[in-house]
Amino acid sequence: MTTVNASIVAPRLLLISGGAVRQIVDVLRKFELSRPLVVTDPFMVSSRLVQNCLEPLAAAGIAVSIFSDTVPDPTDTVIEAGVAELMRGDFDCLIGFGGGSPIDTAKAMAILAAGGGKMRDYKVPAQADRGALPVIAIPTTAGTGSECTRFTVITDTERDEKMLIAGLGALPLAAIVDYELTYSVPPRTTADTGVDSLTHALEAFVSKRANPFSDALALSAMEMIGQHIRTAYAEPRNAIAREGMMIGASKAGLAFSNSSVALVHGMSRPIGAHFHVPHGLSNAMLLPAVTRYSVSAAEARYAEASRRAGLADKHDPDASAAAKLVAGLEVLNKELSVPSPAAYGIDERVWNEKMELMAEQALASGSPANNPRVPDKAEIVALYREVWTGAPRNV
Ligand SMILES: NC(=O)c1ccc[n+]([C@@H]2O[C@H](COP(=O)([O-])OP(=O)(O)OC[C@H]3O[C@@H](n4cnc5c(N)ncnc54)[C@H](O)[C@@H]3O)[C@@H](O)[C@H]2O)c1
Ligand SMILES: [Fe+2]
Repeated sequence: MTTVNASIVAPRLLLISGGAVRQIVDVLRKFELSRPLVVTDPFMVSSRLVQNCLEPLAAAGIAVSIFSDTVPDPTDTVIEAGVAELMRGDFDCLIGFGGGSPIDTAKAMAILAAGGGKMRDYKVPAQADRGALPVIAIPTTAGTGSECTRFTVITDTERDEKMLIAGLGALPLAAIVDYELTYSVPPRTTADTGVDSLTHALEAFVSKRANPFSDALALSAMEMIGQHIRTAYAEPRNAIAREGMMIGASKAGLAFSNSSVALVHGMSRPIGAHFHVPHGLSNAMLLPAVTRYSVSAAEARYAEASRRAGLADKHDPDASAAAKLVAGLEVLNKELSVPSPAAYGIDERVWNEKMELMAEQALASGSPANNPRVPDKAEIVALYREVWTGAPRNV
């Protein structure tokens, strides 16, 4: 029996309800903030989704500047441009509005503006505890959970590496969690971001850094996501499913922020960096195979996850519940039309050439060390080879 050794962090305020974005002015006032720079992406502007945040600010007479040059899987060069924009004005906070990419951009801007230098100076194992300005996060996907986490993920464009940056500087001051903002998310992104949050919850629960606080959040996140992911994918306007996914994603974010992610995320980031596969989709490509590889090292935990996600029966013994998790994740991928890397159109020769480098980058991120079964480089390469066609291994 080990004793608990945990350090728990969370935003100071989470405002959770349909329509909560309209309370943005109250949130700013609570913290005596009045000069925001809104960080978002071009689609949020062209689709006018960001107006949900801008209109209440304008109505309250708050002058707003917008930095909308963020890109999916934000890069160090975009962060530098964002910091230059930040320096041009007299801002007292950042509002990250959008999916994980704009929120992570706002967080990284705060960190880089506080300490200077290059983004790579802050990657783990460095601690990025300082932020120049507080961040208020408003997610529009369900989701990365970034609104609740002490992480930001930024691509080093010179090295094609998705860097994990961790510390209190990346933790939002407040988040507005409004599922109504997710009605317009297309099915592919609903599936990808939903599997991302399921992976956060599962990895938080099986991680070597799991603790009673993260466990409770991870289990209830898996239950909500397991219950609602298929409906949210099939019926974009289903309020109950959208709300369930949004709250599940935030809980999963709190869970892994206070535990960790593990091998799936470790292997997923290099796929994103080298092949520009959306983050949740590369997780989904890996999730069944990595879970199959890992179960033997934490069977009881995987079994409990399986039951809570609705993939095994309450009375199934551990071995069969854990087996049903692997099978259930394979079925879920089919239901959500998740392609293999091959079917996604990645060049097989390039995939094979990059496997060794990707395995090294996965190990260097530190995430695989938190997995219940810790792989060496050769095992990671074997897993990359295994997921290539998405076909289950013949054993
Ligand atoms: N910081 C963390 O803790 C953390 C955790 C997981 C993932 N991430 C990072 O988050 C990023 C991915 O974020 P994401 O999956 O939310 O995707 P994203 O922010 O890149 O958005 C994906 C696409 O969906 C669109 N979109 C977003 N909201 C929409 C809406 N309501 N309606 C219609 N379209 C919408 C965006 O415009 C974009 O085209 C990756 O860089 C990943 O590494 C960070
Ligand atoms: Fe993730």
